[in-house]
Amino acid sequence: MLDVLIAGASRGIGLGLVRAWLELGARVHAVARRPDASAGLIELAALHGDRLQPIACDLNDPAAGERILAALGETRLDRVLLNAGIYGPEAQDVVVVGEAEIGHLFLSNAVAPLRLAHALRPLLKPNSVLAVTSSVMGSLQLSLGAGMPLYAASKAALNSLLLTWAAQLAESRDFALLALHPGWVQTDMGGSTAPVTVTESVAGLVAVVEAAAGSLDCRFVDYQGETLPW
Ligand SMILES: NC(=O)c1ccc[n+]([C@@H]2O[C@H](COP(=O)([O-])OP(=O)(O)OC[C@H]3O[C@@H](n4cnc5c(N)ncnc54)[C@H](OP(=O)(O)O)[C@@H]3O)[C@@H](O)[C@H]2O)c1
Repeated sequence: MLDVLIAGASRGIGLGLVRAWLELGARVHAVARRPDASAGLIELAALHGDRLQPIACDLNDPAAGERILAALGETRLDRVLLNAGIYGPEAQDVVVVGEAEIGHLFLSNAVAPLRLAHALRPLLKPNSVLAVTSSVMGSLQLSLGAGMPLYAASKAALNSLLLTWAAQLAESRDFALLALHPGWVQTDMGGSTAPVTVTESVAGLVAVVEAAAGSLDCRFVDYQGETLPW
């Protein structure tokens, strides 16, 4: 049975990923700030309780890695999805944004996921997959982030940290690394007019992650399997 850890699992795409892997028969370790306050996780626990381990953790907490390792115990992981993210300040403007807001955005979207990736590294099985949820907005070459420059910069920073980690791991890496673009998705962040449903995005993301298992890929890829330029 696959062991899948999904961080940022309370709602939106993360909750959809939890549901999808449970339906595939996996054991899912779902990290959320307040699992007991997530209607979606409560519903899934009632359906698949024996295969769903909720882990309460704010991913920005400096002790997040330690807390999650303690909850996992002897578990070893086949798939890790570091999905949590925030949009950041409404005013996406370097001129007006405050120090605390900009720090919180880059901590949430770039630093915390890579910190957790480092912490979970010893638990990854050979041929596993570690994926972060990035965004096409983070592509420097495509440069699509004019309407949301701070969010785009935070996802570019996430991609950069993932790539430099891959370079540091070099030959010692025996698992795939993915930066995923989920599409523009109907969630609290994406809004109700987004063209892609959570179900469609998640079905594509699961297929992309499963296809990478057993490879040494390090790719920026969308939910339809298209490679994106960094
Ligand atoms: N929706 C889109 O169109 C779209 C497009 C491209 C990329 N993305 C990326 O996809 C990912 C998921 O987005 P979404 O649309 O599902 O967003 P969402 O509906 O706003 O959900 C965000 C999730 O991240 C969690 N989270 C944020 N900060 C956290 C923290 N410090 N600790 C623990 N959990 C935290 C939230 O938990 P709480 O419930 O506790 O707040 C929630 O589960 C994000 O990384 C986002 O940037 C989304």
